[in-house]
Amino acid sequence: MKEARHYSSLVECSEAVAAYIANLATSEITQKNSFNFVLTGGKTPRILYELLAQPSFCDQKIWQKTNLFWSDERCVSPNHPDSNYAMAHETLLSNTNIPSENIYRIPAELSPPRLGAETYEATLQKFFNNTNQLTSFPSFDLILLGMGQDGHIASLFPGSSALFEENHWVTAVEQTGAPPVARITLTFPVINHAKCVLFLISGGEKQKIAQAIIDAPQTISDKYPAAKVKTVEKLLWYIADE
Ligand code: 6PG
Repeated sequence: MKEARHYSSLVECSEAVAAYIANLATSEITQKNSFNFVLTGGKTPRILYELLAQPSFCDQKIWQKTNLFWSDERCVSPNHPDSNYAMAHETLLSNTNIPSENIYRIPAELSPPRLGAETYEATLQKFFNNTNQLTSFPSFDLILLGMGQDGHIASLFPGSSALFEENHWVTAVEQTGAPPVARITLTFPVINHAKCVLFLISGGEKQKIAQAIIDAPQTISDKYPAAKVKTVEKLLWYIADE
C-alpha cells in the first residue's frame, strides 16, 4: 500500500504525521504491547518530535511501551549539535516519560565507526531475538525517514557501497553528506523489512524528487536511494510545500 499526502506547511504536515504515529502506536501497543519506532535524523522532524511530546497530539502513555531507535547517526558525541540523538533528546526524549531502557541510541561516538555499527547491530539482534521476532532481518513497526536533496535516506547516499549491503543490519559510512562526517546507518534490507515506512519531506526540490519516485520508482532507483524503499507493507509520503 503506497499513499502520498500533501500539505501547504511543514507545521500542518507534522501535525498530520504526529496524529498518524499516535494512532499507529496505540494500535500496535493494543495488539502486541509494544511499538518499535525508528526515528530519522536531520532537521525536518524537529516540529514533529515537539508535537509527539505534547499530550494534545499524542497519548503520552504510549511511551511506556514504545521502543525508540534511529535510522542513522553522525559520528559525533551524543551531545554534539550535529547529533541526531541530541535533537531528539532536546525535542522529544526530555519532554516525555519514556523509560531510558526503551531508548536504543546508536553509539556513534565509538571509534572506529565500524565498531559503532557492529555494536548497534548486536543491540538490535539482541532486542529482536528477545522478542522472538528474529528472522533474517528485523521488522520495525515504523521507520520514519527524511530525504536529502540528492534523494539519500538515513545515511545511504548515492554512489555509496552501503546501498548494496545485503547481509548486515547496520553499517558504517565514510565521511560524507552535510555535515561531512562519518556515519552509522541502517541498511536497505532492514528498511525494506519494516511494516511501515513514512517519509516526512519538506521543500520544493525534495517534492519534485518525491513525486518522480512515487510515479516511477523502478526507473530512477539508481539515481535516488529513496526509490529503493519498496517492499514494505505500507509506504507513506507526507509532503509539505514549504
Ligand atoms: C541525517 C538524516 C538524513 C536526513 C536527510 C534530510 O542524519 O542527515 O538521517 O537522512 O533525513 O538528510 O535532512 P533534513 O531534514 O535536515 O533536510
